[in-house]
Amino acid sequence: MTRRIVIAGNWKMNKTVPEAVELAKAVVAQAAEAPASVDLVVCPTFVCLTEVAKVVAGTRVALGAQDLHWEESGAFTGKISASMLVSAGVKYVIIGHSEQRQFFGETDETVNKKTKQALKHGLLPIVCIGELLSEREAGQTDAVNERQLKGAYAGISAEDAAKTVIAYEPVWAIGTGKVATVEQAQDAQAFIRKVLVELYGSEVAEIIPIQYGGSMKPDNAKGLLAQKDIDGGLIGGAALKAGDFLGIAAGAA
Ligand code: PGA
Repeated sequence: MTRRIVIAGNWKMNKTVPEAVELAKAVVAQAAEAPASVDLVVCPTFVCLTEVAKVVAGTRVALGAQDLHWEESGAFTGKISASMLVSAGVKYVIIGHSEQRQFFGETDETVNKKTKQALKHGLLPIVCIGELLSEREAGQTDAVNERQLKGAYAGISAEDAAKTVIAYEPVWAIGTGKVATVEQAQDAQAFIRKVLVELYGSEVAEIIPIQYGGSMKPDNAKGLLAQKDIDGGLIGGAALKAGDFLGIAAGAA
């Protein structure tokens, strides 16, 4: 089995419902430009999911959410469950984004619970990991990624792990315009794959797509996507323009 290339747009807290519908329509209209080997995913906010689901239904663009809660249902004000996402037509779910970790108390433990819950409901997790600038400068990049990865996948079987996507996002590159060099990204991602081999064996490690994320743009995508262990991208800012988003996907050709 060859690994897939997954290009996912993380729209973050952007776009009202009509704006999200408009952007989704533009992505769908240009999706044919993306190489056939690429899986395209758009991840709007929760309130936009059902409307965007209608736009992407029956197209090659899949729907993703930006988070979920690990409980089935109940008294968890403000939270969204896996079955709600499934019922809205969601296929992928971003878990453990660095903004959730930095601002909303996400830990390796909650990432693990969310990943298990997503898998239980047939959602495909996009598990985000990545080091802070201070951690990179202290030479801890690999150690941080290993800790976050092992935390996220604790107790998850190889069969389930094979359904996941990993997003390596160096936190210092997110929204800063400061993209990692291809060497920095490839080195970190090769190490992540090595940890996956240790956890699940090489067969499973070889099929899990590892995305790069952090200031990815059409002009730097090609070099990044040409790397052996870079299997797509998690795109923030550039995903808010359909042309840029598809321009990044074109880099996977
Ligand atoms: P960016 O965000 O592309 O705007 O840097 C990426 C992300 O946070 O997923």
